[in-house]
Amino acid sequence: LVIVMDFGGQYNQLVARRVRECNVYCEIYSYKTPLEKIKEMNPKGIILTGGPNSCYLEDSPTYSKELFELGIPVLGLCYGAQLMQHVLGGKVERADVREYGKSILLVDQPQSKILKGVPETSTVWMSHFDYISKIAPGFEITTHTKDCPVASCEDKEKDLYAIQFHPEVLHSEYGKTMLSNFVLDVCNCAGDWRMDSFVEEQIKAIKEKVGDGKVLCALSGGVDSSVAAVLLSKAIGNQLTCVFVDHGLLRKNEGDEVEAVFGPDGNYELNFIRVNAQERYYEKLKGVTEPEAKRKIIGEEFIRVFEEEAKKIGAVDFLVQGTIYPDVVESGLGGESAVIKSHHNVGGLPDHVDFKEIIEPLRDLFKDEVRKVGLELGIPEYLVFRQPFPGPGLGIRIIGEVNAEKVKIVQDADAIYREEIANAGLDRSIGQYFAALTNMRSVGVMGDERTYDYAIALRAVNTIDFMTAEAAEIPYEVLNKVMSRIINEVRGVNRVMYDITSKPPGTIEFE
Ligand code: XMP
Repeated sequence: LVIVMDFGGQYNQLVARRVRECNVYCEIYSYKTPLEKIKEMNPKGIILTGGPNSCYLEDSPTYSKELFELGIPVLGLCYGAQLMQHVLGGKVERADVREYGKSILLVDQPQSKILKGVPETSTVWMSHFDYISKIAPGFEITTHTKDCPVASCEDKEKDLYAIQFHPEVLHSEYGKTMLSNFVLDVCNCAGDWRMDSFVEEQIKAIKEKVGDGKVLCALSGGVDSSVAAVLLSKAIGNQLTCVFVDHGLLRKNEGDEVEAVFGPDGNYELNFIRVNAQERYYEKLKGVTEPEAKRKIIGEEFIRVFEEEAKKIGAVDFLVQGTIYPDVVESGLGGESAVIKSHHNVGGLPDHVDFKEIIEPLRDLFKDEVRKVGLELGIPEYLVFRQPFPGPGLGIRIIGEVNAEKVKIVQDADAIYREEIANAGLDRSIGQYFAALTNMRSVGVMGDERTYDYAIALRAVNTIDFMTAEAAEIPYEVLNKVMSRIINEVRGVNRVMYDITSKPPGTIEFE
């Protein structure tokens, strides 16, 4: 285990991912984690992340000197590097100019363990306004840049390493090499943490934990809940019951696809309950136009339906959640206490389901790792690589009131759009894409007749983290074909538009 200690930096998850890419298992913990707890975990190495503060100020995040005296190798990055120097007797000061962006790194000590395989000059990514003006006793400078006298330094006797730049960012050409040198050569990690061993270990752990208990899982058909369900099924088979609520706001044929994989004719040993709650949802959504109100209704209704099913099943021992690592970290808890991701991100957990404990088998994994586990478990690729689909589903892709007729229109248009995107070979390269039904009707002409129908809006965005996004540049011929097919094949639509808004100021979804 390597511990990534979070000082509030924007790249802390990236640091953890890079370490795991070296097949070394790591976890993120808050800088507030007591020294005793760290000792108990007995990590092979500790990485201190960057952060937005100045370490010499009174109430900035800090850590006691003892952290550096445990005999465990420590690597400080950016703020972490400055903090290490500050605490151990070096000096950190405000620089005249903020160094931000790419810099050329010049190696002074090529024999440094961390710099193995790093050429004399390379590009690194800098982002700091403070700098290390004097290194702590026992350290020596190992690299510098034009504007930064100490780009990295180390106390090789004590295995303490400080790096001012961000090796975790891909713009740092040899950043991954340096991180890998740290975890594999300095910390002596074996580098054998892999998804197949994860699957084996989880199955064993689940078997032990569950014993002959009963387990209930809310299956949405999304990647996380599907992978969690299959993992449970492999471990405990029919002791698992999955409830799949079809709220009538799924994409075309999606309900049947989920049933085909998980249902009685599917591939897994489990009890599958499909609840067809379409009518119930449409009834609740009648006349509701405000987006947040729709979200709330859809979320709450899910909880009610799920509770009703759970009641029929009776008391269970465990409830499965598809929580993944970013859900845990984003709550700012870094694994210290349980966070529960609700199925719809609104509405919360059912209060009236009788269970003793929650199982979150994917709690330690990043999304790409969940996908790897999915493939490892033999889940069909189209499920594993499914693009994100919001919990409230088409409910927030139909602007204004939702009804069965509108759901059918948007399902059909979206299916055509997805099919053509796949035909053009773009389905894995675009971040998220879908059709939405605007609430606008306009005049058109078809044959010799005047029409007065809805407009479909097509959306496609490229994004890294879904926090910001840009409209994807889909070739005109593809858009043109989608337009012509939608107009011809989908009743009730006479206009197709392509949304070119980026996020911000737009959001990815329309509501
Ligand atoms: P926005 O529209 O906020 O979307 O730019 C960002 C990402 O979040 C998804 N999204 C949701 N997911 N419940 C969800 O589970 C929701 O209410 C919801 N709203 C948006 C959206 O699909 C995109 O991936």
